[in-house]
Amino acid sequence: MPTAFITGITGQDGAYLARFLLQKGYVVHGGMRRISQPRLARLESLGIARHVQLHEFDLLESGSILRAIRMLQPDELYNLAAQSHVATSWELPVLTAHTNALAVVEILDALRLFSPGTRFYQASTSEMFGQDTTAPQSEATPLRPRSPYGAAKVHAHHATVNARESHGLHASSGILFNHESPLRGAEFVTRKITRGLARLARGQDAGPVVLGNLDARRDWGFAGDYVPAMWRMLQEDAGGDYVIATGRTTSVREFACLAADALGFEPEIIGDGPGEAAVDRADGRCLWRVSPALCRPGEIDMLQGDASRAREALGWAPVLQVEDLALAMVRADYDDAA
Ligand code: NAP
Ligand code: GDD
Repeated sequence: MPTAFITGITGQDGAYLARFLLQKGYVVHGGMRRISQPRLARLESLGIARHVQLHEFDLLESGSILRAIRMLQPDELYNLAAQSHVATSWELPVLTAHTNALAVVEILDALRLFSPGTRFYQASTSEMFGQDTTAPQSEATPLRPRSPYGAAKVHAHHATVNARESHGLHASSGILFNHESPLRGAEFVTRKITRGLARLARGQDAGPVVLGNLDARRDWGFAGDYVPAMWRMLQEDAGGDYVIATGRTTSVREFACLAADALGFEPEIIGDGPGEAAVDRADGRCLWRVSPALCRPGEIDMLQGDASRAREALGWAPVLQVEDLALAMVRADYDDAA
């Protein structure tokens, strides 16, 4: 049976990828940070916590990387672990650089020395494109990152490309645009919206959802659709770089309206700029409002991906559209809020 090692297996993508690989007959190993209370909620919610082999693993500890790679020598290594929250990266730029850039260099070097036959996937991101970019963005679009997170991911991306070109590693960089799910971390904007509105719909005295930049546009897909693309990259004869996206772009405000509609609210936008809010036409309740404190020091106005290469070379295409995604997320959060 093929073996895979997933760093970040406790995260959103890690959980979906682990389930996908188990279904394909892989022995799945996962790297997990030592914490006082193991966070297995996502793996448990997919019913796979007992089917994966978990190992203590921390990207900030070189020995941990070396040990895992020497011991497991997996057929495939998916590096999904990261400090993944862009806004946090301005507060923790050093930790972000170490986790998202330097640790990837260490993984690649360990692969070169101890397991050169392992096929490697790096979780790259549309955040690498930055602000002054053409749309839609493809593998040929210049990288001009605008956050410490994006800059670190650019470093890791180039390290992956170099490992492929200099040392012949089978190393791929998946440039994934935003992807969400009911397992999305609560601090990301889609889940913040669906959770907050679901609580309001349940009549909980939760108060409006407080948001930052409502004009930002993202290309939102479903995480469950995106993990098969990671696997497909590693089944190719050689590594490569692939954009994975839906090709549609939606503003934060539009996503909030989709989620509100799905819950039966009738959102009406009032005010503008920092004074903007949305109220429910039916009962006047405030659904969301803006707080300028949540706006970022550097914003990317618009991301929209062109996944033509993935479609043609990997035969990959997304299934869920943003409307279905919003619906699935509010349904899950509404049930949770019971
Ligand atoms: P996520 O839910 O935040 O999961 C991140 C994972 O990384 C968690 O398992 C976390 O462990 C782990 N981790 C963080 N620091 C670590 C460290 N020092 N050592 C070991 N593990 C560590 O992120 P995601 O949405 O699944 O994203 C997966 C990857 O894809 C990330 O690299 C992200 O940057 C990238 N990406 C995501 C998207 C997206 O829209 N979701 C788009 C493009 C790229 P804990 O559970 O202990 O915190
Ligand atoms: N998190 C958050 N919270 N974002 C908000 C809020 C808020 O209250 N209000 C508005 N936004 C805007 C952000 O400014 C950003 O423009 C957009 O919503 C999306 O923010 P996030 O959901 O935090 O995602 P992200 O685009 O910054 O980063 C995610 O996608 C990247 C791929 O483009 C993460 O998953 C990254 O790890 C990933 O690389």
